[in-house]
Amino acid sequence: MSTSAASPDPASSDPSATPGADPARGSQHDAASTAGPGAAATGPGRSAAPSPGASRASSDDAAAASDRGHSGSAAVHVRDLHKSYGDLEVLRGIDLDVATGEVVCLIGPSGSGKSTLLRCLNLLESPQSGTISVGGFTVTDPDLDVDAMRRRVGMVFQQFNLFPHLSVLENCTVSQVKVLKRSKEEAKRIALANLERVGLEAKAGQRPTQLSGGQQQRVAIARALSMDPDLMLFDEPTSALDPETVGDVLAIMRQLADDGMTMLVVTHEMSFARDVADRVVFMDGGVVVEQGAAREVIGSPQHERTRTFLSRVLNPTTVDTPE
Ligand SMILES: Nc1ncnc2c1ncn2[C@@H]1O[C@H](COP(=O)(O)OP(=O)(O)O)[C@@H](O)[C@H]1O
Ligand SMILES: [Mg+2]
Repeated sequence: MSTSAASPDPASSDPSATPGADPARGSQHDAASTAGPGAAATGPGRSAAPSPGASRASSDDAAAASDRGHSGSAAVHVRDLHKSYGDLEVLRGIDLDVATGEVVCLIGPSGSGKSTLLRCLNLLESPQSGTISVGGFTVTDPDLDVDAMRRRVGMVFQQFNLFPHLSVLENCTVSQVKVLKRSKEEAKRIALANLERVGLEAKAGQRPTQLSGGQQQRVAIARALSMDPDLMLFDEPTSALDPETVGDVLAIMRQLADDGMTMLVVTHEMSFARDVADRVVFMDGGVVVEQGAAREVIGSPQHERTRTFLSRVLNPTTVDTPE
């Protein structure tokens, strides 16, 4: 797992999660504009998106999802995506779709390319070939307005990377003011509403270091939401947390899903994937091996590689005995 660098720089997304982020692309953008969490300034009412309050717990597939008010339009559309680091081909022809309002969980072994795929979606990595469109932006178009695209995509990473010298509230307002050009008053109002949403309005004046890991991750989610993203990307958001705080973060994510947010979530939390995701995509070796309704892929995987992976994740203490 590539988490050696821990420099807390929320402005450039998570450096520990973005090894090899294309420096040519990255350096064109000021710190705040690459914060990942970004969105069109459509106001805090965005959370009233499709089917507010509709429970996903009973959903089994994307068809059921459309019943809950999904527009069916593609929030993410990836075709034949290839990405290499030198001789190492990490993504070997990925096709992936996420419909507006859909929740997709991306699962797979370490090194299978999940983070790289997520990072390609908002050009923290530049793919060699293939097409990507995100929220109507053709990401692989050389003339893309990268900042405009990133404003629509919120990102939450394993390491939350809040600014340690800023208060919780300031962490949630800084990019709103810098990137979305909101007034300080409006940014504060929106930030407080989102901190309330994650149950942390009482911590607004505190520094991130005064918070538990789970609380810091909830602040990171509030920060992303404060930019009114159309799409949220989560890269193992609970992997770095103490077990007792994982549930709080998953509960926030579940609520977000119920509110209609479009979400692509890399996670090893299989119960979350089974209960919340409309669809599960299993990746291994840089390809999508299997995908389908969450309960089907997790409950009765079709491919041996999926079965092996799931049995390891679901029974982590089982030791394989060589034949
Ligand atoms: N910047 C980089 N330079 C070279 N290799 C990288 C870089 N980033 C990731 N990799 C390699 O790409 C493969 C996939 O990594 P990653 O997308 O992080 O996988 P996952 O998130 O599924 O664990 C791994 O073998 C990893 O070592
Ligand atoms: Mg990863």
